[in-house]
Amino acid sequence: MKTLKIGICGWGNVATGLFKAIEKNSNLIQLNGGVNLTIDVIGARRDNPKCNPGKTKIERDIFDVIKHDIDVVVELIGGVEVARELIIKAITNKKHVVTANKAVIFHHGDELFKLAQENGVKILFESAVCAGTPIIKLLKEELAANKVSKISGMLNGTSNFILSNMEEGAEFDSTLKLAQDKGYAEPDPAFDIEGMDAAHKIGILSSLAFGTSLPPEDFFVEGITKIQKSDFSYAMDMGYTIKHLAVAKINESSLELRAHPALISLDSHLANLKGVRNGMEIDTDLIGKIHIAGSGAGQESTASGLISDLIHLSNTNEISDQFYKGDEGKYPVLDFSNLVFQYYFYIEAEDKPGVMASITSLMASKEVGIESIVQKEELGDSCVPIILITDPFKESDHAELQKELLNLDSVRAIRSIRIEAK
Ligand code: HSE
Repeated sequence: MKTLKIGICGWGNVATGLFKAIEKNSNLIQLNGGVNLTIDVIGARRDNPKCNPGKTKIERDIFDVIKHDIDVVVELIGGVEVARELIIKAITNKKHVVTANKAVIFHHGDELFKLAQENGVKILFESAVCAGTPIIKLLKEELAANKVSKISGMLNGTSNFILSNMEEGAEFDSTLKLAQDKGYAEPDPAFDIEGMDAAHKIGILSSLAFGTSLPPEDFFVEGITKIQKSDFSYAMDMGYTIKHLAVAKINESSLELRAHPALISLDSHLANLKGVRNGMEIDTDLIGKIHIAGSGAGQESTASGLISDLIHLSNTNEISDQFYKGDEGKYPVLDFSNLVFQYYFYIEAEDKPGVMASITSLMASKEVGIESIVQKEELGDSCVPIILITDPFKESDHAELQKELLNLDSVRAIRSIRIEAK
């Protein structure tokens, strides 16, 4: 039986989860993976009361982990610049690297992969995208013969947990607190709820599937903080729910790259994935649409992805370029303002004659068609919600239209959400 000697850097939630999972499932890992995973050293700035590392050697300076006789450094410190430094040091000391750190791969992927190649070592990162739900090796290996044209889905477990709980009537703040308690959220949860975490992940997937650079060009990112509980019931009346979607899609010779909330049809596969689940739909030429779903955050799911990389490492000798650079070369990222969407508008207006007419005539003057407009039950204080679904129009006209609607005398508040085409 082969042995893989591991040094873990970091001793937080994810690292202790990996330690416990290796202890718990070592027989299974030996049986299925044919490898004995030994944790020889842990770089821990401080003890973690939630996990006793037993007799494992502890280094207080995480960089000292690299000095040990180990095969692989598992980078679990998070953050970007120190993590980059650590990975570079591991690589130049001829240690393989496994990381769950999407931010460092997003910002420095191209540099790190090149360096790994030059030093004859591997850098693996299955758990950086959707934790243990398999997607990296799936795209890189199982789908290697396919031309992928679109990847879309919910890539942030915390956002999906919050939105699907709000769909059931829960409040945003208390659900975020619950996601933090369960260890789903990033140390700074703004990364989850403002969309950056999902953006990092779709950037990485786009690089794998379409050869875009890491870091990628700037692209449109919006989080879930403006979504209200009532939007779910209004959306549902029209056959939609609300998800945080990340999309990478080939449009002729350019790439659509974006991460933002969207109304999606209730009968779609992604609409039914609730809680911390991540879900992706991948359009391929040889096998059509593929759906992948599973837990996208948390200690155990992340440990599963890390262990899959460790097994992969011990079973493959080939050192090849990690990233696909197809014949087509890199696709330029499309300007988001040139994309076309249908929109859901929530308009809070005074309940008086002529309100609807003022809204519809403004829309007509802007040459934006209306698919439906419905006045809902009064909110009190002579105020009514009006739910408007537009025909498709250009993103570049969206902000101006929203501003002009808000400027109408009778309109008190407004918000909008893009609708994802089927
Ligand atoms: N905070 C992340 C999420 C963890 O909620 O998806 C996994 O990357």
